[in-house]
Amino acid sequence: MSKKLKIGIIGLGTVGTGVVKVLSKYDDIEIVSCAVKNLSKKREVEVPLTDDIYSIVNNPEIDVVVEVAGGVGVLEPLKCAIKNNKHIVTANKELLARHGAELFDLAREYGVSILYEAAVAGGIPIIMPIKTSLKANDFELVAGILNGTTNYILTKMESDKISYEECLARAQELGYAETDPTGDVEGFDAMYKIAILANIVFNKRINLNDIYREGITKITAQDIEIADELGYKIKLIAMAKKEGDELDIRVHPMLVDKKLPISEIKNATNAVFLKGHPVDRVMFTGPGAGEFPTASSVAGDILAIKAEYGKCETILPMMSCNHNIYARQVGIENTKNCYYLSITASNKPGIIGKLGNACAKYGINISYIIQKGTNHDNAKIIVVTEECYEKDMTNMIKELEEDKTAKVENKIRVM
Ligand code: NDP
Ligand code: HSE
Repeated sequence: MSKKLKIGIIGLGTVGTGVVKVLSKYDDIEIVSCAVKNLSKKREVEVPLTDDIYSIVNNPEIDVVVEVAGGVGVLEPLKCAIKNNKHIVTANKELLARHGAELFDLAREYGVSILYEAAVAGGIPIIMPIKTSLKANDFELVAGILNGTTNYILTKMESDKISYEECLARAQELGYAETDPTGDVEGFDAMYKIAILANIVFNKRINLNDIYREGITKITAQDIEIADELGYKIKLIAMAKKEGDELDIRVHPMLVDKKLPISEIKNATNAVFLKGHPVDRVMFTGPGAGEFPTASSVAGDILAIKAEYGKCETILPMMSCNHNIYARQVGIENTKNCYYLSITASNKPGIIGKLGNACAKYGINISYIIQKGTNHDNAKIIVVTEECYEKDMTNMIKELEEDKTAKVENKIRVM
């Protein structure tokens, strides 16, 4: 029998517990120790526990460190593990998006692999396919639904008419949400994931500060209802697009035409769409979060290392990271989009004319405009525009709101 692969796990929450369960069928993988924060918490699985991460990363018996704790606090322990020549498997998108450059440089120096299939789109195999089967492509776009929690919330608010708060609580119960769900609902999680994807799709390092990010917390039940009437679903979309020599990378909600397949992605399902040559268009869909789908990806990475372990070259060459040039990123103000505007206006003559004039001044063409009923003082006006520059839209809104007779309650870009 071949030598057992000995692993140490950091974290035994939703994902860690799933990983332990999945690995239990492999006699040739031994979990030496698992680090947790709270040793007295009741656990679903039995493994040797410690509350000292360094006892894992410094343990000479351990070959692979599996990090499923989350957050950037694990950076130093993982650097220590790499310096101790251990391979790393991680589901931690925040860590990779913020500190990937440093970690991958170190891994290259020490000849170890960092595998992270679970960090993007949970159970969907996407990192490995981009780095191997799709390696021959020049990509122009990667886009999709990369956060299960927000897609679950938007789906349930629409289909079951459940409040935002209740949908979020359910997503937390189901193990989809981050320890602090602000990361999900404010778009940070999807931003980390699109940064990781853009990095490998375009072979460039990505500056997180240059990614435009907006979450779903401003989306109301009324926006979802009106979008539905107009033939759209609202989705949190993450995208990275080639614009000449620059990359346009952003995360924000979008109205997605119901005719597009991505509008059909429901609950915690994720979708990743790629457009490149020679493959043309491909879309991957599957479970984007949760115990077992995520454990599937983590276990796959462990098994990939197991298959190569002990060979003369232990680093998986196609999975390593060899680029070090930073991308030039387009600012959101210089992007072109179509827009949905939800406007509350004073219920008096001339308001539509004022809106028309403001749009005309900035060259914004209106596709359609609907008045959604009035009460005594106010009218609700919905506008969908043709494509225009974000900076022109910003200036138009500023002008429209100047005399306080109209307020743009929400501005959502349209796919
Ligand atoms: P949980 O909050 O459920 O679990 C986190 C685990 O890490 C807990 O067991 C916690 O210990 C442990 N932990 C936290 N800090 C420390 C520390 N300093 N020392 C030792 N142990 C620590 O998170 P998830 O399992 O949901 O997520 C883990 C990682 O996987 C994150 O990076 C997340 O982004 C990522 N991920 C999660 C997915 C999901 O669907 N949940 C999907 C894809 C990726 P204790 O139990 O004692 O509190
Ligand atoms: N919180 C994340 C989500 C987990 O909801 O998508 C998967 O990365």
